[in-house]
Amino acid sequence: MGRLKGKIAIVTGAGSGLGKAISETFADEGAQVVLTDIDLDSATKVANAIGTQAIALQQDVVDEQRWDDIVQATIDAFGTPHILVNNAGLVLPGTIESCSLELFRKQTSVMLDGVFLGCRAAVNVMKANDQPSSIINLSSMAALQGYSPFIAYTAAKGGVRSMTKSVALHCKEQNYPIRCNSLHPAGIDTPMVRQESVGAAGDATPATGIIPLGGLGHPDDVAKLCVYLASDESRFMTAGEYPVDNGLLYKPD
Ligand SMILES: NC(=O)c1ccc[n+]([C@@H]2O[C@H](COP(=O)([O-])OP(=O)(O)OC[C@H]3O[C@@H](n4cnc5c(N)ncnc54)[C@H](O)[C@@H]3O)[C@@H](O)[C@H]2O)c1
Repeated sequence: MGRLKGKIAIVTGAGSGLGKAISETFADEGAQVVLTDIDLDSATKVANAIGTQAIALQQDVVDEQRWDDIVQATIDAFGTPHILVNNAGLVLPGTIESCSLELFRKQTSVMLDGVFLGCRAAVNVMKANDQPSSIINLSSMAALQGYSPFIAYTAAKGGVRSMTKSVALHCKEQNYPIRCNSLHPAGIDTPMVRQESVGAAGDATPATGIIPLGGLGHPDDVAKLCVYLASDESRFMTAGEYPVDNGLLYKPD
C-alpha cells in the first residue's frame, strides 16, 4: 500500500478488463486516477467504486484535441500527471488475405495513432515535472511473435513496441524525468480475449495462487506490474518490454 502515494495517473480504456484493474490497483496504492474510456458509463462505474481519488472522462483516444482536454482536466482535478497508461484498445480480426484497408486503418488508428497522441500529450506536460514520471504502453505478445488471424492488430502492437523505445530514448536524450516501457500480455481473462473472434479458452485464474493448467491470467497479473513500472521502484528501467504471458512466448503450447 502507498507505493504510488502522491502520483497522478491517467489510464485509458479504464472501463473494462486491464484498464479497470490497473486503475483500481493504482488507487489502492495511493494514486489519484483519471479514468478515460470511449464508453463513459463503464469508466464512471469504476471511478465511482474507487471514490474521491478517481474521476471518469469520456475519450476516444483517436481524437487529437481531446487529449489536450484530458490533460487539462487532470491538471484541474488533481495536478500534472506523473503516469500515463496507454491501454485502450479493440481487436479486429483479418488475415493478410482477408483484411480490408478500411479495417487495417481503423485498427491502427486506435492502437497506434492513439498511443502516439497519448505519449505526445504526456511528454509535453511531464517534462516539467519535479517528480519522476512514467508512460506505460500496452503492446501485446502478438508484437513479439506475430499472430496471423489479426494482421492489423499485430502491426499496431509492433508499432507500439518500437515507438515506446523511441519515446524513452528521446526523453533520456532531453534529460526529461520520464521513463517509457511496453507491456506484452497474452491470455489475460478480459472481455477482449473472451470475445468470439479471439476465442481464448481456459479457466479464469484467481488473483493469487497457482495458475491452473491451461488457465488464463488474471487482470491483476498485469496491474501489479504496472504499479512497479509506474512507481519510482523501477527508476532505472526505460525502453524495456515486459511479457506477462506465463511463458507463452518461449513455449507456445
Ligand atoms: N487481455 C489480454 O490478454 C491482452 C493481451 C495483449 C494485449 N492486450 C491489450 O491490453 C489492452 C486492454 O485490453 P483488455 O483485454 O482489457 O480489453 P477490453 O476490451 O476489456 O478493454 C478495452 C477498453 O478500451 C476501450 N476502448 C476501445 N476503443 C477505444 C477508443 N477508441 N478510445 C478509448 N477507449 C477505447 C473499451 O471501451 C474498453 O473499455 C488493449 O490495448 C489490448 O490490446 C490485452
